[in-house]
Amino acid sequence: MGTSSLRPVLVVDFGAQYAQLIARRVREAHVYSEIVPHDVTAAELAARHPAGIILSGGPRSVHVDGAPSLDPAVYASGVPVLGICYGAQLIALQLGGMVTRTGQGEYGRTALALASAGGPQSPLFTKVPPRFDTWMSHSDSITAVPPGFRATASTEEVPVAALEDPDRRIYGVQFHPEVAHTYGGQDILKGFLYDVCECRPLWTMTSVIEASVSAIQLQVGQERVICGLSGGVDSAVAAALVHKAVGDQLTCVFVDTGLLRAGEADQVEETFRQQFNIDLVHVKAADRFLDALEDEVDPERKRKLIGETFIRVFEETASDLGDARFLVQGTLYPDIIESGTRDAARIKSHHNVGGLPEDMDFELVEPLRNLFKDEVRAVGEELGLPEEIVWRQPFPGPGLAVRIIGEVTPERLEVLRAADAIVTEEIRRAGLYRELWQSFAVLPVVRTVGVMGDERTYAYPIVVRAVTSDDAMTADWARLPHDVLERLSSRMINEVPGVNRVAFDITSKPPGTIEWE
Ligand code: XMP
Repeated sequence: MGTSSLRPVLVVDFGAQYAQLIARRVREAHVYSEIVPHDVTAAELAARHPAGIILSGGPRSVHVDGAPSLDPAVYASGVPVLGICYGAQLIALQLGGMVTRTGQGEYGRTALALASAGGPQSPLFTKVPPRFDTWMSHSDSITAVPPGFRATASTEEVPVAALEDPDRRIYGVQFHPEVAHTYGGQDILKGFLYDVCECRPLWTMTSVIEASVSAIQLQVGQERVICGLSGGVDSAVAAALVHKAVGDQLTCVFVDTGLLRAGEADQVEETFRQQFNIDLVHVKAADRFLDALEDEVDPERKRKLIGETFIRVFEETASDLGDARFLVQGTLYPDIIESGTRDAARIKSHHNVGGLPEDMDFELVEPLRNLFKDEVRAVGEELGLPEEIVWRQPFPGPGLAVRIIGEVTPERLEVLRAADAIVTEEIRRAGLYRELWQSFAVLPVVRTVGVMGDERTYAYPIVVRAVTSDDAMTADWARLPHDVLERLSSRMINEVPGVNRVAFDITSKPPGTIEWE
């Protein structure tokens, strides 16, 4: 994205979780921010023309062998630096101060006092009171500041809880301003961004859209572009952005797998064809997917068959469209951040409906590659996409097929789709839709005995799954109110033929996964 007018604040990553959170907080202050790995060189940093550099916290001690460090030339570059926790200790250590394993760590809420000795006020602390609560997590402590620095805050246990050298514009805080538990944390970050780095709050969703539109126009020129729509928020926002940039040079392809939720295909038609007037190819391929899935009960094989069929259908459609040179992908920033912790064991082979084979002969347009999910939603809202799309909960590429535990048949799809629609309706009605990561119905292919109106029934159970999560890596089952559960149960049994029992899944992840297959 063309952010050339916005100089970034670069967050040097000494431990993935912290770096992400800091970059988000900086962006919430409307300053553009990106994460860079800790082995970045001073020259590489300088090439990005950063307005400031923030060194993140990290899980290690600066004293252990192989502890990550920073190219010392960065400190002499003249670019303002703020070190947080581990980052502050690195500054102290690398510039000639002392970091000691005092045996007196601080964890959690810790009261901090600003240094009062009549010195100039730190630009970080103009908006906080002389004493306030911070969030700490460290076992080593800074015991002596480097030459040229002064300590600007302390705690009961630790004499240097913040330090600075205003001449060189290098700052450090032992606590975590990025977490909500630190009083005024965002004001402290803003002090660094606005007063020290002299950033202006220009990174807004309007500026994101403008910059993105020009970048797309520049990349695409007069060529044709295609975009696969899944009904989810990422591909929808990417399509809307590209359409804003190049209008009818864009054709969207929506493959209806027959495995979608109730109303999803209509919603895509309505939004893209009617509202945005986008050239939309709606491929109705339910039969092909059902044929491919016939007799298959193995979860991994089901996923594979769906992935393969999807690719085949998309390729055929793309080749019918002939001359498109560009393909839009809804890749997000967290997908591309370098991380050393990505090689986790394969639990399921994820198939992303937006994700297509690499050997397709397209150049990629990825207008969301600098954005976090919540920013994508904000852009979607700004572009006028409907709430149902912008706030839609994640939905797996293989769709309802991985929520029918057994063979997928049209009859079972119908039952599950109706039950799932009731889950969505009731969760929305209870005002819980946005706070749940996902809420949906699962149909295990077994039958149980029941009785309705003096008659014996022998029908499917529906399992309700509702989870909270930040990133889907871990999840907890949601404590749904009993009256919501009661309505779900009675509506499903009364309204969905073929269902005579409702259960609620109380498994977290791990040990469960969010989807049943
Ligand atoms: P699990 O079931 O592994 O799911 O805990 C984690 C998250 O990923 C979603 N999911 C998928 N998303 N293609 C996708 O795009 C897939 O094949 C796929 N499988 C699972 C799931 O809904 C949850 O949000």
